[in-house]
Amino acid sequence: MAARATTLYALLLTSLQLLLTCHVTLAAGGKWDLLLSDVGISAMHMQLLPNDRVVMFDRTNFGPSNISLPNGNCRNNPQDAVSKIDCTAHSIEYNVESNTIRPLTVQSNTWCSSGSLRPDGVLVQTGGDRDGELKARTFTPCDNNECDWVEINNGLARRRWYSSNHILPDGKQIIIGGQRQFSYEFFPKTTFPNVIDLPFLAETNDRGEENNLYPYVFLNTDGNLFIFANNRAILLDYVNNKVVKTYPTIPGGDPRSYPSTGSAVLLPLMNLEADKIDAEVLVCGGAPKGSFILALRKRTFVKALDTCARIKINDENPQWTVEKMPQARVMGDMTLLPNGDVLLINGGSAGSAAWELGREPVFVPDLYHPENPVNSRFESLNPNTIPRMYHSTAILLRDGRVLVGGSNPHGFYNFTGVLFPTELSLEAFSPAYLEPEFARLRPKIQSPNSQSTITYGMNLKVKFKVAGGVKGPVKVTMVFPSFTTHSFSMNQRLLVLDNVRVKKTSSFFGALFGKSKNYEVQVKTPRSASIAPPGYYMMFVVNENVPSEGIWVRLQ
Ligand SMILES: *[C@@H]1O[C@H](CO)[C@@H](O)[C@H](O)[C@H]1NC(C)=O
Ligand SMILES: *[C@@H]1O[C@H](CO)[C@@H](O)[C@H](O)[C@H]1NC(C)=O
Repeated sequence: MAARATTLYALLLTSLQLLLTCHVTLAAGGKWDLLLSDVGISAMHMQLLPNDRVVMFDRTNFGPSNISLPNGNCRNNPQDAVSKIDCTAHSIEYNVESNTIRPLTVQSNTWCSSGSLRPDGVLVQTGGDRDGELKARTFTPCDNNECDWVEINNGLARRRWYSSNHILPDGKQIIIGGQRQFSYEFFPKTTFPNVIDLPFLAETNDRGEENNLYPYVFLNTDGNLFIFANNRAILLDYVNNKVVKTYPTIPGGDPRSYPSTGSAVLLPLMNLEADKIDAEVLVCGGAPKGSFILALRKRTFVKALDTCARIKINDENPQWTVEKMPQARVMGDMTLLPNGDVLLINGGSAGSAAWELGREPVFVPDLYHPENPVNSRFESLNPNTIPRMYHSTAILLRDGRVLVGGSNPHGFYNFTGVLFPTELSLEAFSPAYLEPEFARLRPKIQSPNSQSTITYGMNLKVKFKVAGGVKGPVKVTMVFPSFTTHSFSMNQRLLVLDNVRVKKTSSFFGALFGKSKNYEVQVKTPRSASIAPPGYYMMFVVNENVPSEGIWVRLQ
């Protein structure tokens, strides 16, 4: 009798635990939606603007795209191998809310260029190929569909192709590297020497393969720049051109940057009030050394790397910790989600970046939970069906979805007779937290209003509602919208704000019925521009790992 009772009791407990677990654990999964099957161009570069429009572009000299230039315009394009007079657009604006596009006019060649959002919300974008290699371009967001690209001749001092940009604490941007450019410079140009040698980029340049293009650049919380190229990194004091720290080579020594393209993120920054912030970088995937050459010359497609390496960049003696991924991935994107998880998405599991050199598309996104113990950090999610190979992109939207586009492993727009056709579609991946079963946990921010300005080091009260109530601590996070191309999201940064206990606030009806679902949390905004460069951020409230829809705040 007693034994039976115990068994029953145990059963009951197990079911209860199961019920509870189902409630708070975001089971893997996620959902794919085809947003538009043809946006006219292949989304090789993407930037979300603070009015929820996304600027996308590919390149200008590889034949007519599938969308016409506005107002019947044409461009004289003698460099184009296919059409010397090109009446098509190679850049578009995507309106997230209406799920529509409009063509934009970019004149010079933006192929393999880079960019950053300026503190005032203007996209500043630099470099490219041929007539675009010295250009800077700006795009000022507008709601009336009238804004377009403005191009600046000699915006750069050196040709920059496959460079990485980062926004700096003073609001300027730094442009680092590029093919055969072992240096960095600033935009707008500075008066002191504007082009500064960076021998690290020459040292990481593998003969015949390079493997150091589109370096992974992150602004450290101490104001220095963490720069990763090939298989190793430095910490650079860019003002005095001094390498202040040299990090060890990733165990195994295989390259992780273009064309052995992996990806990298600065993991969520937290405990922002601490003297020394535990900033960590995670580098995932890539291709073994020699993969590019083997694919190019021998049509041998080597299995991609299936490891990530993680490092505390502010440690006295920083060391890489290597973790195994659920699958090998080259040319994958890494996207920080509003709750601090990292999404690995897109790419292939064999070959290398560059034209025609990738194989075995990876359709399954993997989620990485940075705060879990090693070996329990990865979850594999629901797959899509469209290969997103070389020149594909992924960015976070304010509503928590991830916008996925691009893939064009060809030197032209090739839709037939190829392994992976030029992809003109846009998809959205909705992580599990957007599923209806979590609606009761999802906070809704009530104040501040979207587009509010906030200042450094202030106490900010964030008011929100949760239908199902708040049971544990909540997080308030801020995400800088990144410029994404070639599997790297420049300026990607997520801050977890220090907060004081959540308190219930009474609304009139809540008080009336004795069950207020209104809450307030007081957070501390970042104390310095090295921790959070000035500009627009998406701000989220996260309850039990379920993020609210974001609001835009401008930090200054
Ligand atoms: C290009 O546009 C045409 C006409 O609008 C359409 O029929 C075709 O499917 C498009 N091509 C692709 C690859 O989307
Ligand atoms: C790709 O497109 C270009 C330009 O239209 C064409 O010349 C080339 O033959 C195409 N390649 C393939 C494999 O179809």
